[in-house]
Amino acid sequence: MRDFYNRDISYLRISLTDRCNFRCLYCMPQEGIDKCSHNDIMTLEEVEEIVRQAAKFGIKKIRLTGGEPLVRKGIVDFCRNISAIPGIEEITLTTNGGLFTSYGRSLKEAGLSRVNFSLDTLDPEKFRKITRGGRLEDTLAAIDLALDLGLKVKINSVLIGGFNDHEIKDLVDLTKDQDIQVRFIELMKIGQTLDWDDSAFVSNKLVLEKLPSLEKLQVEGVAQTYRLPGYQGTIGLISPISSCFCQDCNRIRLTADGKLKPCLHSDTEINLRGLKGQDLEEALAKGIFNKPEKHNLDQGPSHSHRFMNTIGG
Ligand code: 5AD
Ligand code: SF4
Repeated sequence: MRDFYNRDISYLRISLTDRCNFRCLYCMPQEGIDKCSHNDIMTLEEVEEIVRQAAKFGIKKIRLTGGEPLVRKGIVDFCRNISAIPGIEEITLTTNGGLFTSYGRSLKEAGLSRVNFSLDTLDPEKFRKITRGGRLEDTLAAIDLALDLGLKVKINSVLIGGFNDHEIKDLVDLTKDQDIQVRFIELMKIGQTLDWDDSAFVSNKLVLEKLPSLEKLQVEGVAQTYRLPGYQGTIGLISPISSCFCQDCNRIRLTADGKLKPCLHSDTEINLRGLKGQDLEEALAKGIFNKPEKHNLDQGPSHSHRFMNTIGG
């Protein structure tokens, strides 16, 4: 279905839980947030019904996200169920990889085709620090498994000034012998990062400055892609601040507590919980049609008052 600005909305990102086994500095407070209570979290049957209705409106691609989606019980059966819904063509996952080796194979069998791993540094100590306790080796093992299983792999690296901006080449080198995409994401001022120093917010232009031989390829969704000559994989730059991509945005989001978020950075949310049949259809159609034109992250912080773990990356 097209929105008011004539964008074809075909991609639904579902936050299956606000909980996470990590506590990334830019995403969640140390102590965690006021977790949604179990009663507030939608059942997987409810989410499935929303996917079924959304597919009728032209949603083709689903991303399972969180928090950490793999902490949600029942995710494998859920994946299998939604992959059987007519119209759903692709199921993807965004994960920190910490639990992936236990679920990867069954998820692939259940219809998963792509995985994005969050990985901001290749230094084990810094990895532990940024995730507040995660183990780099687990995420690297997860990436290896995903490749062995034949899943399409992307790596999401949030660029943080003074933390990993000197690791750009090392991260890019992951694409040398592997057909993966390493995506640099500009740090956004939202939730946990609202009071961070300006020096942490570096532009993706830095990647191009450091690697002038990067060859420009096509635009893939919200990413401009590049390749280093001779490298197997590609680089994606996701630059919400330095290069707004809202005019090409084809996504809507569903939070774990059942709110449709037509835009990550808007505070507009439409409750879908408890809705069925025509009421659910109407709410979805209204949400899609009224998707805001753009965010204004180049002018100031996000207008969404949520923490990232309750929206999904
Ligand atoms: N800015 C940019 N990306 C973020 N993510 C979480 N918080 C932020 C932020 N403040 C994204 C990361 C991570 C995904 C789960 O969410 O890309 O990989
Ligand atoms: Fe968890 Fe991802 Fe947030 Fe890190 S960025 S705390 S892994 S949800």
